[in-house]
Amino acid sequence: MKHIACLTAAAATMAGGILYVASALGQTDGDASPIYGIKIPAGYRDWRLISVKQLAGNKLKQLRAQLGNDIAIEAFREGKLPFPDGAIIAALHWNEASSELDNQVLAAGFPGAGLESVFAGSAVNVQFMVKDAKKYAASGGWGYADFTNGKPGDQALHEKCFPCHVPAKDHDYVFTHYAPTP
Ligand code: HEC
Repeated sequence: MKHIACLTAAAATMAGGILYVASALGQTDGDASPIYGIKIPAGYRDWRLISVKQLAGNKLKQLRAQLGNDIAIEAFREGKLPFPDGAIIAALHWNEASSELDNQVLAAGFPGAGLESVFAGSAVNVQFMVKDAKKYAASGGWGYADFTNGKPGDQALHEKCFPCHVPAKDHDYVFTHYAPTP
């Protein structure tokens, strides 16, 4: 019995070791983005909030959240520019959705106010900017990656990222600013 307990403990330690190695590498399994070779960073869904946006056009309505890893969040809060190596910004995009229940309750609670609430519905894609001034010197120090359903977009898509971020050069190619704390 004691022997089995020892073995179980050993197996748990080994599993912990494997998990540790995976998270130390900081990337999940799966394909990397073309040009920049970036895989989906581990744990990005738990990163802290930089800001939120709405993107609306003739054919789409999206809600978007920008999250940062610890290095990125610290740089945003301190207004540190350029962003230090290791900073990663994630942009999570969803189709806008709404709930009748939410809107009925709001209409009943605030009659005549015409309130309508929307929220993040189905997932669209996730994009990353990874700072490594040397490795990505040709693209302003940032590597770019776009994933839909865990699969990276093609080379043509990734060729468009950096040129389009050039207008934000004065803010180290990052459009998003840190949202005030309410
Ligand atoms: C048509 C121009 C354009 C292209 C192409 C483009 N971006 Fe952006 N990107 C923007 C704008 C404008 C914002 C801010 C508005 C928003 O988030 O919707 C943004 C925001 C971002 C953000 C949040 C950080 C920031 O700069 O605000 C990330 C991450 C990002 N883009 C990654 C990418 C990746 C990866 C690609 C290529 C696959 C890409 N972008 C292609 C214009 C572009």
